[in-house]
Amino acid sequence: MSKVYEALKRAQQQGLGIQVDIPGELDGAEVFTAAPEASVREESPGVAARQEDPELRTIAMVVPPGSVALPWKGAVDLAASEQYRIIRTRIVQHPKRPKMLLITSAKSGDGKTVSAINIAGALALRDNANVLLIDADFRHKGLCEMLGLPGGLGLANLLDGSCALQEAIIRVEQYPNLYVLPAGVRGINPAELLDSEVWDSACAIIREHFDFVVLDVPPIASVADYELIQAKCDGVIVVIRPDHTDRTLCMRALELVPREKMMGVVLNCAYQWFLCRTHESYVYGQGAQAK
Ligand SMILES: Nc1ncnc2c1ncn2[C@@H]1O[C@H](COP(=O)(O)OP(=O)(O)OP(=O)(O)O)[C@@H](O)[C@H]1O
Ligand SMILES: [Mg+2]
Repeated sequence: MSKVYEALKRAQQQGLGIQVDIPGELDGAEVFTAAPEASVREESPGVAARQEDPELRTIAMVVPPGSVALPWKGAVDLAASEQYRIIRTRIVQHPKRPKMLLITSAKSGDGKTVSAINIAGALALRDNANVLLIDADFRHKGLCEMLGLPGGLGLANLLDGSCALQEAIIRVEQYPNLYVLPAGVRGINPAELLDSEVWDSACAIIREHFDFVVLDVPPIASVADYELIQAKCDGVIVVIRPDHTDRTLCMRALELVPREKMMGVVLNCAYQWFLCRTHESYVYGQGAQAK
């Protein structure tokens, strides 16, 4: 029986409220095997042999044409994909070895979801690095739509006990190392869902079985759920969009991120000339045409 199932079973036995439906015959341990830290060889998406795991939904994503998600697939954007690889390297080589990364911004529409998808995608290109991308923005859950994946069961259902982790996670067919946990369908307030022992134990289990966890979350301090998610993360990456992010809001938001968790900013929709001028920030160069 795989480690993740054992962990889920333990959580259930401890009465933490995670609903677990453990099949008698299951061997999916390889799916959640931790990767060596130093491995940086990239696999082409879809090329590597996949371990079959009938217990997880494996679904092919259908990224709409012209999308800025995953710029190394379909309409390849060399400049953007290179910038995401730089971000990846900075994350992987960060001295604090962050595992759970929260992608946020000062306000709606700055590019949190695009950045979370692309950072998770870049991390998942590494050989043997299992990456879980979580849509933890219950109010603006656009992540699955952007990837052309069905939403359905997800984090909210895991937290309210209406499904198990293995029922909610989607394996992305084209990306051997990428797993997605949709936001799910919620009946109660997200803050109540997250202010629970189930969230605590779910984080512990996820940490144990994935090399990186990337969370798409609401804007900084906008809602109570934000704080509850931030409390569990190792690092915060703030997305700034020069033509969109309000300067005052942005400065206030940056001050609210605990210093020890602040990893840096992603400058989304940066002009090409800015990319040539500076190497100080994490930059996503989409070029002037994307403005
Ligand atoms: N670099 C980019 N180039 C072109 N379009 C972009 C870029 N980044 C984001 N967008 C577009 O801007 C819109 C908002 O992006 P996104 O959904 O990622 O923002 P968000 O911060 O997650 O918003 P929300 O707070 O509503 O969830 C989307 O239509 C997205 O396709
Ligand atoms: Mg979003």
